[in-house]
Amino acid sequence: MAKLYINEEHKVGHIEPEVYGHFSEHLGRGIYEGIYVGEDSAIPNENGMRCDVVEALRELKVPMLRWPGGCFADEYHWKDGIGPKEKRKKMINTNWGGVLEDNSFGTHEFMELCRQLGCKNYINGNLGSGTVQEMSEWVEYLTFDGVSPMADLRAANGQEKPWTVDYFGVGNENWGCGGNMTPEHYANEYRRYQTFVRNYDAGHPIKKVCCGANVADYFWTDRVLKTCYDHGEFAHGFMDYLSLHYYVHPEGWDIKGSATDFDEEVWYKTLNKAFYMDELITRHAAVMDTYDPDKKIGMAVDEWGAWYSCEPGTNPGFLYQQNTVRDALVACITLNIFNKHCDRVKMAALAQMVNVIQSVLLTEGEKMIKTPTYHVMHMYRHHQDADLVESSLTDNDTIGVGEWLVPKLTESVSCGKDGALTITVGNLSADAEENLEIKFAKGGYRVEEAKIVAHQDMHAYNTFEQPEIVAEQDFADYEMSERGLTLTMPANSVVELRLK
Ligand code: AHR
Repeated sequence: MAKLYINEEHKVGHIEPEVYGHFSEHLGRGIYEGIYVGEDSAIPNENGMRCDVVEALRELKVPMLRWPGGCFADEYHWKDGIGPKEKRKKMINTNWGGVLEDNSFGTHEFMELCRQLGCKNYINGNLGSGTVQEMSEWVEYLTFDGVSPMADLRAANGQEKPWTVDYFGVGNENWGCGGNMTPEHYANEYRRYQTFVRNYDAGHPIKKVCCGANVADYFWTDRVLKTCYDHGEFAHGFMDYLSLHYYVHPEGWDIKGSATDFDEEVWYKTLNKAFYMDELITRHAAVMDTYDPDKKIGMAVDEWGAWYSCEPGTNPGFLYQQNTVRDALVACITLNIFNKHCDRVKMAALAQMVNVIQSVLLTEGEKMIKTPTYHVMHMYRHHQDADLVESSLTDNDTIGVGEWLVPKLTESVSCGKDGALTITVGNLSADAEENLEIKFAKGGYRVEEAKIVAHQDMHAYNTFEQPEIVAEQDFADYEMSERGLTLTMPANSVVELRLK
């Protein structure tokens, strides 16, 4: 029987809420249809935002939302998306499907969405094809309180008071779609552009995100930090986060693989690739440690998720995919890894929120469903703003097919501000249950909540006709003892326990 030892006397770090952040790009039906339907839509909406989607996202306690891209960000000219909608410029979304972008969702709409969600905003600026002036004016438009050309323009567009900007990305994937730059070139551009991301609100400085590496490009991390490093240190407020992007593609970038049609080998291959996140964080963090030993710069894994071939019959540029119980396990593995690396990982964003890649919600007309990933994010919301607690597994079998091996169980444990322990455990086996004995240093707890997301069929997913095939349910297969707890976890399952 596997054992999970929890030393709740030892808090080993703090899990920032932003680790549970989301990303939504002007891509496919992510924003248009998925979130924003416009004020005149027959779909119930508040100021154009779908009420069903906003309500479901509020239940997740979305802490932060990144927008407008992605690759779209480095071709986005923010002035196209302000002012009367009928006068806004129309353009072709060259990155994603070559469809018409009418700019009806712009700065004001994004800020309104964040207001409705009650979340922090993360705006990704255009370094690849935009000017320093354009970026600087966007920040002025958003945050300057007083008389200035951009503040006056904002007021003329109906927003008298400035907004608060929480995070600002200075370019996206500038090693690729954001300009195909070398790390030294990007880093020098970063130095210049970030200078003009001014802090007009001294009480709420904007946190700046520098473009980090693609997957295992440790050279990028090293060179960007080296080029930004000055006189033995980073100037205060120069860089708050360095990003990292990693997607799980079971069959590689070109083929990717089906979201719903896979065998047991591909199940383990996918989960094995999800575990690769651990190595990536460890090795990028080691490079960061050489320049930033005090960990003042957070790692922002601001694009992560399992990215499969798009659903047959859908626009390949829209990246619409289904979401099975396998994705619940990908989320479970990844979020446990983030929790365990909370000393360095200070922000992350699941790609993408609605209708794109590993979404938490899917929509079709007026219908909306929650995906298995949604339910995992919902159970894990208790880890937000909690302290990571020391925990470790023993007698944890290695399972898999061929070279695609994974530990049978994955876990993380945190202690919330209310003193409650949250334990999240995944059983990665495609066909075997697992008994787990949990032992506490202190003990004497009562189970306040026990939930499970699972399905005996590893291919199970929700449809618009049957939206509850994979859902969060009460979990009863556990027994308390004085110093511990034993549970039986079915195959393909994620369990969350709240103890007080
Ligand atoms: O999330 C889809 C795309 O993946 C983003 O636009 C880009 O940043 C990444 O390559």
